Amino acid sequence: MKQETVIIEKVLYGGDGLARLSSGKVVFVPYTLPQEKVKIVLLEEYKDYAVGYPLEIIEPSPERIPPPCKYYGLCGGCQFQHLPYERELEIKRDILKELFLRQGFKGELPLKGIIPSPKVYHYRNRLRLHVENHIFKMGFVKRGTHEVLKIEGCLLGDKLLNEVLQGLYENTCWINMAFYVKRLRLELSPLDSKVCLLFWTILPPEKRDLKELTLIPSVKSIFYFIKGARPKGPYPEQAPHAGRRIFQGALDLIYYSQPGVFNQVNWEINLEIIKKICELAGEAERVLDLHSGMGNFLLPLVKHLSEAKEFLGVDTDIRAIEDGIYTAEKNELNGRLELRKMSALEALYEAFQEGKTFDLVLLDPPRGGCKELMRLLPEVASHKIIYISCDPPTLIRDILLLQKEGFELKELYLFDMFPRTYHFEVLSLLQRRA
Ligand SMILES: C[S@@+](CC[C@H](N)C(=O)[O-])C[C@H]1O[C@@H](n2cnc3c(N)ncnc32)[C@H](O)[C@@H]1O
Repeated sequence: MKQETVIIEKVLYGGDGLARLSSGKVVFVPYTLPQEKVKIVLLEEYKDYAVGYPLEIIEPSPERIPPPCKYYGLCGGCQFQHLPYERELEIKRDILKELFLRQGFKGELPLKGIIPSPKVYHYRNRLRLHVENHIFKMGFVKRGTHEVLKIEGCLLGDKLLNEVLQGLYENTCWINMAFYVKRLRLELSPLDSKVCLLFWTILPPEKRDLKELTLIPSVKSIFYFIKGARPKGPYPEQAPHAGRRIFQGALDLIYYSQPGVFNQVNWEINLEIIKKICELAGEAERVLDLHSGMGNFLLPLVKHLSEAKEFLGVDTDIRAIEDGIYTAEKNELNGRLELRKMSALEALYEAFQEGKTFDLVLLDPPRGGCKELMRLLPEVASHKIIYISCDPPTLIRDILLLQKEGFELKELYLFDMFPRTYHFEVLSLLQRRA
C-alpha cells in the first residue's frame, strides 16, 4: 500500500485531520493534530480525496497525550482521547465556525458560549452494545468495519453501567441467552443508583433466566424487545414506577422514563442546556415543543414560565409521551401542559389550520434536522425559535432556510454533550425580524 509523509493542517468535523498529499490531493487522517508530521498509509483513494491512516507520528504536537482507553483506535466511538480536553473544546469551536462559513452563513456568528461538560469521562448514562454468541462477547462496532469489538468496559460510560456489564460477563444465564440475544442497552437510573437492562432477542427468555439477571447487583428492571414497537417488561413485574429510570431534573423536577425512551445521554450538560433555554425563553406565553420526547425541556419551562397560557409538546414516540404525562402527574404539573403523540409536521399543520401561533417554538430533531417543517414553521412561530441539534450541518442548513423566512440568528451556544468524540450539541436562538 502507498505510504507518504504529510503535515496535518487542521481537524475537521468527524474528527479526522486534513492534510495534502504530494500530488496536492486532500487526505483525511484520523487521530492526528494540527501541525503534526505524520507518516501515513493510504487506505482509499478517490478522484477528489484520499483516506489515510497514521503509521507513525514523526513530529508529534506538544499537545498530544496518551489516550487512557485500551480500545482507542480500534473502537469507532472516540476520536479525541489523544488531546487535552481544553484543546478538544477549541477544536470543536473552530469546526463549528468553519461549518457555518462553508455552508454560506454571512455576517458575524453570534457564538455566545462554549459550555464544557462537567465530566470528561464516565458521563454517558446509557451504553448500547452488540451481543455475539459463537465466541461470547459484547461490544461496539470496530472502527471502519461491521465486526464487533469485545468491550469489557467503556470509559465514557457511567461506572455503574460498567459494573453491570462485568456482572453480565460473569452471569451463566446471560452467556446462554447470548445465543438468541442480538443487542443490549444498559441504562442508568441515576436517582436510585440502579441500572435498567433492555435487550433485543429472537427467542423469548425463560422466566427463571430473567429472575437470575435481576440478581446482578444494581440491576433495577429488565425489558426486552421481541416483536413490535413496545418491549416486554418490566421484570420484576412489581419494579417501582413500572421499572422506569429516575432522574433529578432542573427546578426540583423528578423525571421518570421507560428504558428505550430517548433521554439526553450526558445529564449534567443537559441541565446546563435547560438552564439556558429557561433564560432565553423570556416572557413567552405560548410554547410549542415539536420534539418534546418525555418533556425534558418543556416541563422545566412550565415551572419557569408560571404566567404562560399554553404549553404543547408533541413527539412520535408514544412511550416518551406516556413518560411525559406520568412525570407531569408525579410533579403535580398535569393540567398545565398538553403532550400528544403526533409528528412535528402534523402539529404545525393543525396549528396552521386553526390559525394558532406560538411565541416560543422548540426544535430538537433527530440528526436529519427539520427541512420538512420549513414551509409551515414560519406560519406558526410568531416570535422566537430555540433550535437544539446534535448535527451541526443540518442545523446550519435549517438556520439558513429560516433566515430566508424572516428569522435572525441571535445567539448560538456549543454545549459539549459528547467529550472525547467529535460530536457536540448546538443551541441556537432565532428571532423574527422586526
Ligand atoms: C433528540 S430527541 C429529543 C427529545 C427531547 N427534546 C429530549 O431532550 O429528551 C428527538 C426526539 O424527536 C422525536 N421525533 C422523531 N421524529 C419526529 C417527528 N417527525 N415529529 C416529532 N417528533 C419526532 C423522537 O422520538 C425523539 O424523542
